[in-house]
Amino acid sequence: MSNYLSRDISKITTHVLQKMKLKQEKISMLTAYDYSMAKLVDMAGIDVILVGDSAANVMAGYKTTLPITLNEMIYHASSVVRAVDRALVVVDLPFGTYQGNSIEALNSAVRIMKKSGADAVKMEGGSEIIESVDKILSAGIPVMGHLGLMPQSINKYGTYSVRAMEEEESNKLIEDAKLLESHGCFSIVLEKIPASLGQKVSETLKIPIIGIGAGGGVDGQVLVLHDMLGINQDFSPRFLRRYNSLGTEIINSVQHYIKDVKSRDFPNEKEQY
Ligand code: KIV
Repeated sequence: MSNYLSRDISKITTHVLQKMKLKQEKISMLTAYDYSMAKLVDMAGIDVILVGDSAANVMAGYKTTLPITLNEMIYHASSVVRAVDRALVVVDLPFGTYQGNSIEALNSAVRIMKKSGADAVKMEGGSEIIESVDKILSAGIPVMGHLGLMPQSINKYGTYSVRAMEEEESNKLIEDAKLLESHGCFSIVLEKIPASLGQKVSETLKIPIIGIGAGGGVDGQVLVLHDMLGINQDFSPRFLRRYNSLGTEIINSVQHYIKDVKSRDFPNEKEQY
């Protein structure tokens, strides 16, 4: 642990991430959607916090990420920003706020940056959204790309299975990654693709590549916080490593509390005025 290069840096910026790639220090990234969790994750020393549109699933219980709105993402991102001192905070632009119309994309990005105070936005897609990426970058807003499995396009794919297994899709992903880099994205997330492809993209590009189910050859890793803590127990893809079973611990604690209330054990003498 002693040679964690970013440890002494007081605020992570996109430039710090670039230096981390050059020094081959892996980048750690997790999602967070609320003040209390973001505070803990930042205190633990994470490099990047993603206010992911997975908030639609994790926080709101939707089946896909499509329903979450710009205002809802602003609410989550501003809660996270209020908690964070050190991590770079990246916020997802939600479905329908940037595809197809670059002026609308710019308005969405400016609004979410102004209202939330986040450091950067993330967008799903390659050549199809490049005009929107350009417009947003031209306003000085850092953009993180997202390729491979793109949950906002689930209705096009019809499945959450591994992407880019075939040569055609794999070649398109490499071209899209190069395009995003050449237009000025500071980093790209690759989701659920073969490890060999993740490594190839990371070796080809100069910007940091963050993987979720993209193998160990990329420059950093991201997981959904509630999945890795075992709060959400319904989701067990192969790429997920569980670091706790907080779901079980929470249920046990709540059951203990119920028992104490029912049995009149709580509150005791010292717990009242
Ligand atoms: O929304 C999200 O949580 C994400 C990660 C899966 C990368 O985009």
